[in-house]
Amino acid sequence: MIVEKNSMIQIYELSAGRCSLSTPAFLAQAMPVLSWKVKTDEKDWMQLSYEVEQYDASGEKVATTGVVASSDSVGIPWPFEPFASRERRSIRVRVTDEDGQWSGWSDSLYLEAPLFEPSDWSSSFITSQGNETDSCTYLRREFSSSGEILSARLYITALGLYHVRINGKTVSDDCFSPGWTVYSDRLLYQSYDVSSLLVKGENAICAILAEGWYSGRLGFDGGKRNIWGERLALSGQLEITYADGHSEKIISDSEWRSSAGPLKFSSIYDGELFDARDTMLGWDLPGFDQSSWERVQEIPFSNELLTPADKPPVRRIEEIAPVCFVLSPSGKQLIDFGQNLVGRLSIRVRGEKGHAITFRHAEVLEKGELGVRPLRLAKATDTYILQGTGEYEEWEPLFTFHGFRYVEVENWPSEINKEDITAVVLHSDMKRTGWFSCSDPLLNRLHENVLWSMKGNFLEIPTDCPQRDERLGWTGDLQVFSPTASFFFDVTDFLSSWLKDLSIEQKKNNGIVPPVVPNALGDTFGAAAWGDAATVTPSVLYERYGRRGILASQFDSMKSWVDFIISSAGEDSLWNSGFQFGDWLDPTAPPDKPWLAQTAKEIVASAYFARSSSLLAQAAALLCMEEASYYKDIARKSRTAFQREYITPSGRMMSDSQTAYSLAIVFDLFENEEQKRKAGNRLASLVRDSGYVIQTGFVGTPLICDALSMTGNYVTAYRLLKQEESPSWLYPVIMGGTTIWERWDSMLPDGTINSGEMTSFNHYALGAVADWMHRVIGGLAPAAPGYKHIRIAPHPGGNITSAMSEHESPYGRIHVSWDIKEGMFNVNVIIPPNTRAEILLPSQIEKEFIEVGSGEYSWSVPYVDPDARGPYTVDDLIGEVLGDTKAKGALMKVLDELNVPPFIYAVMNNERGNSVSSLLQMVHASAEAVQKMNSAFAEAADR
Ligand code: BGC
Repeated sequence: MIVEKNSMIQIYELSAGRCSLSTPAFLAQAMPVLSWKVKTDEKDWMQLSYEVEQYDASGEKVATTGVVASSDSVGIPWPFEPFASRERRSIRVRVTDEDGQWSGWSDSLYLEAPLFEPSDWSSSFITSQGNETDSCTYLRREFSSSGEILSARLYITALGLYHVRINGKTVSDDCFSPGWTVYSDRLLYQSYDVSSLLVKGENAICAILAEGWYSGRLGFDGGKRNIWGERLALSGQLEITYADGHSEKIISDSEWRSSAGPLKFSSIYDGELFDARDTMLGWDLPGFDQSSWERVQEIPFSNELLTPADKPPVRRIEEIAPVCFVLSPSGKQLIDFGQNLVGRLSIRVRGEKGHAITFRHAEVLEKGELGVRPLRLAKATDTYILQGTGEYEEWEPLFTFHGFRYVEVENWPSEINKEDITAVVLHSDMKRTGWFSCSDPLLNRLHENVLWSMKGNFLEIPTDCPQRDERLGWTGDLQVFSPTASFFFDVTDFLSSWLKDLSIEQKKNNGIVPPVVPNALGDTFGAAAWGDAATVTPSVLYERYGRRGILASQFDSMKSWVDFIISSAGEDSLWNSGFQFGDWLDPTAPPDKPWLAQTAKEIVASAYFARSSSLLAQAAALLCMEEASYYKDIARKSRTAFQREYITPSGRMMSDSQTAYSLAIVFDLFENEEQKRKAGNRLASLVRDSGYVIQTGFVGTPLICDALSMTGNYVTAYRLLKQEESPSWLYPVIMGGTTIWERWDSMLPDGTINSGEMTSFNHYALGAVADWMHRVIGGLAPAAPGYKHIRIAPHPGGNITSAMSEHESPYGRIHVSWDIKEGMFNVNVIIPPNTRAEILLPSQIEKEFIEVGSGEYSWSVPYVDPDARGPYTVDDLIGEVLGDTKAKGALMKVLDELNVPPFIYAVMNNERGNSVSSLLQMVHASAEAVQKMNSAFAEAADR
């Protein structure tokens, strides 16, 4: 029986795979996956069944799934016929709860297919006749519409970057279209509803092209140009449907005209030159005199490679005003935006015709001057030459971006004001999904810095850095950062798109994942932790978004990467051959030799062999692939080989380093719990012996806090996290950093820039610790894929008295906030519908967790702050004795009061990892023993 609609249960956020957020939403594939979220006040709400209805373009219901008995609401395979090109449909969904109570119907989601078949395209790729090294071209075409326009769609792409305008207006706010992919195999095109831009009568469609990543210079040491091609070209198809039912296509063809224009030069690394004296008034409107424009040339390019845009576009996300204007010691005009960011300037200026202003961008100042050495060969300079109209002229570069906090302005015509200049922040327009804060302002700034480094490096593809002559899709950086990234933003489409490119590059390279994707460097070797992006990233996306489909589509890529490792490892199942980056940028390595880490490269490689083969085995089992048992066996063998070669029976490791223990603990490579516990304690001693400064590079850093907390060494983890001396996470914060740095000490304590050749101030890899902050301080983690099951287990420490972690999961908003007041730990939790959660409060032991369903909850439990009680474990005590004289004094006092003889200190060394109370018990016992001995001696002496 169907129960009447219950208004308390609502469906919101019905989505169909990757689609633009506009209405209609343009699809990226003919069979999108469906997801929805439910809102309800009911506690413990679980979905029992759902029904999806499908309507055609005229609003007629054409299909229904009927009632499907399933609690699935995330990543549901498309239940209807695939879409044909240009087809429009809408869908809506409703669900029942466990009592069979129906929700209302969701709002309709309007979906539209773009062009799926190469034969849908009639347009050609058109280019200017001009010389091949032109970095910018203007294109235009006029046409008259033949009636009342009902609707119009524009499908458009370019070799290079394009900006398209219709009748003087920009078609969209997307930047850097068509985006960056492996152009030789996959060229994205965008679809736009342009109905409102066209008019009855005369129209003009116009575009500007620039080299972008396609043919512009990429890579260090001078890099390479024309990696994917030499000629910039546009291909577009405008399809107009008239009210009387007839339709018409305006395509890019030989009818178009091209010309040079005011944008003289544009390069990703070097910046733009705009000469406003060459402004062509009305060039993008109908009726413009184009007699001096040349006919375009058509060039061949296969329509087979055209792919509907499958990732979010880059957009102008935010504007930031200057914080201050200063003159440098050498008299240069500098602007400080207060935040290291990625984007470009937007200016307005009045002045004489021909007056040229230049803007040079950099992330830091050195001795008060713009610190441009870290940019290496990237000029990062924009130039604007005034038209001199007497009015304000407004300008913003179109096809370049810079990583900067400071700008050096040369030749501004008068005094520069705050209103004249803003910084525009650019990044891929992903939906924000994660928030965190706590009572510690330095940790909050660290967290903010991680967020800013993600924004700055999630621009079209995940890059290493956004400022120097690099900005490439380094696989290792993304691999370690992917869990953090998937908390902050919904990166499903962004990363699935990049993974497609990763698979393509792999296919060209015998299964080997090159270190950067797209492979702009042309490298063919595969290195551990870098190439493992192939296995780790899809697994992370599955863990965080519950989208099995991503694992399925990446399965071959995962497999061929592991097959490559198997072939490199050989008989003994150890991966100790070939080029390896190792624990890149370990702070103990010399600045100019970042590969000279203290952890053996083969430990990193063999650990990743075990990790990747185990992830592959799990994916294979989940997808019911026959290979599952084969890879399970490989995973087992590589794990055993690792133990045999690198771990002693008592849990010590060949490289006695922070990274080696972190890898083996987090990747579960120890034989048993006891060995792992000892390894955890050894790791804690290494951290303590280093004086709580970090000794890990790109590989160990994302793992070390987990390795410590997984083995109970929370106090050590917190102390490491809160260290302010270099190398540490907070040192850059103390130094005023507003993003995560590439090196622990990209800037040295005296304010000079690290002499290393790679010294970026915006590299997210070392910021991967934020994921630990969300899970351990905030206490919010997935316990089953997609947060269908949630683990709420905040573990306070480091004198933090409150924290908040919030995540918009695929099922809805999860919230945890806690504080400690008057000896009580108080926590508020929100669990979304259709999920369950296990709650583990600080006072509870692992098995005692509380299990709840959706709803809002609060708990208060008595709490004894381990820090207030003093040192916590013996390791910790020794650490304080070593480093902290105040604590040493306190300890001595305790020991004196207990009348403890000095040799007892030596006992402490054998007690590492044990609690302080057990040490004190022992001290008491020993003190008693000593007393007994003394009395015995005294008695003997008396006799
Ligand atoms: C990049 C990295 C990258 C590394 C590997 C550097 O130049 O900036 O982040 O992972 O090279 O060698």
